[in-house]
Amino acid sequence: RNEFSLFKIIFSSKWKICTGRHSLWALGSYIPEFTVVLMLDDIQVGYYDSKVNQVMRTSTASDHKAELNLGQEPVNVLRDIYSSMRKRLNLVKHRFNLTIDGVHVQQRVTGCEVLEDGQPALIMFRDGSNGQDADSLLYNMTHFTYAVREGWEIQWDALKKTSFQMLYSNIYLSFCVRTLQHFLECEKHLVMRRVKPRLRFITRQVVSGGQVTCLATDFYPRHINLSLLRDGQPVDEGSVRVGSVLPNGNGLYQVRKMLMVGEKELQRKHNYTCEAFHLSLDNRLRINWRAESSYSHRVHSISPLVVLMLAAVLLLLLVLRRKRRKERSEGVATETQEQVGESEQSDDLVTS
Ligand SMILES: *[C@@H]1O[C@H](CO)[C@@H](O)[C@H](O)[C@H]1NC(C)=O
Ligand SMILES: *[C@@H]1O[C@H](CO)[C@@H](O)[C@H](O)[C@H]1NC(C)=O
Ligand SMILES: *[C@@H]1O[C@H](CO)[C@@H](O)[C@H](O)[C@H]1NC(C)=O
Ligand SMILES: *[C@@H]1O[C@H](CO)[C@@H](O)[C@H](O)[C@H]1NC(C)=O
Repeated sequence: RNEFSLFKIIFSSKWKICTGRHSLWALGSYIPEFTVVLMLDDIQVGYYDSKVNQVMRTSTASDHKAELNLGQEPVNVLRDIYSSMRKRLNLVKHRFNLTIDGVHVQQRVTGCEVLEDGQPALIMFRDGSNGQDADSLLYNMTHFTYAVREGWEIQWDALKKTSFQMLYSNIYLSFCVRTLQHFLECEKHLVMRRVKPRLRFITRQVVSGGQVTCLATDFYPRHINLSLLRDGQPVDEGSVRVGSVLPNGNGLYQVRKMLMVGEKELQRKHNYTCEAFHLSLDNRLRINWRAESSYSHRVHSISPLVVLMLAAVLLLLLVLRRKRRKERSEGVATETQEQVGESEQSDDLVTS
């Protein structure tokens, strides 16, 4: 239940990447090698290589410039993070009596967000030990929020909290915002890109009628508004299943909305429309689909009995074919045997 979802939170609704806002996150793990991945919005832009003690640019983002030119400061900050994570894991091990040689993981997400005009909006960190949330701190320019997971036994005293607040608001904040601006400048071509969604309908027959799915793929940024209309009228949202926005595997996104259409409704042959609003589009994008007469007719006329009979015939054919093939392979000369048979054949030769 407490499964650690630290690295997912930046893409969840709570930390949703709002259009116009930008964020820089460092995702650190200590197991006990120390690795850090740097995310600008939802794009991996760099990582920390502990072997060379440097912040490297991620190759997918490197088609323009190879160097990151961030200087020594980020390396120092990352080393601070490293030593703080190491200390925390040692504390956790001690407090919870964990064995010295077992594998234990310390994770941290830390970073900042800026508004459209470049003004800082927040800075935060969130820690987890061994897959469990531990504590987090967030400063939103007016308030500090410090939260500890219920049941987490390691409490900070007031002094410790104050020192962390000072560190984050006085030192890390300005550093993070500066680094974020630097990345934004370097990776403009990735972050500011606008890729138009492709829309298509996927329709499927099911027992009770049909399944009409609108699929939007290959768009960037992630934010999209997709809606389904029936004869030009919005479909009741209660009858629509909405998928979450997923990575498409190529740095772009996809999302789907699905409507279950009963047999009766299918026969009425409504005109379904899928409509997308996206930053990449000056206007909305629309596609239409209407149940064809053959489609709804087929859905109507196939009875369970027919399906059963068809299945029985198919099964019979399969059994007959397999039987015939078996007879043939047993009786045929060795050269014409299938690949699978070859190893058996050589085994036979050895034993005989
Ligand atoms: C931790 O381990 C020691 C020695 O094995 C034991 O005496 C102690 O009770 C344990 N403490 C906890 C909190 O489990
Ligand atoms: C900061 O957080 C506090 C407490 O959650 C909230 O009352 C306040 O409006 C927030 N300020 C900004 C600028 O978001
Ligand atoms: C469906 O309706 C849209 C307008 O909402 C119209 O442009 C389109 O031609 C219609 N499609 C069919 C197949 O009737
Ligand atoms: C999507 O809809 C919301 C709420 O209606 C609106 O604020 C937002 O600007 C829309 N986004 C796009 C890309 O049209």
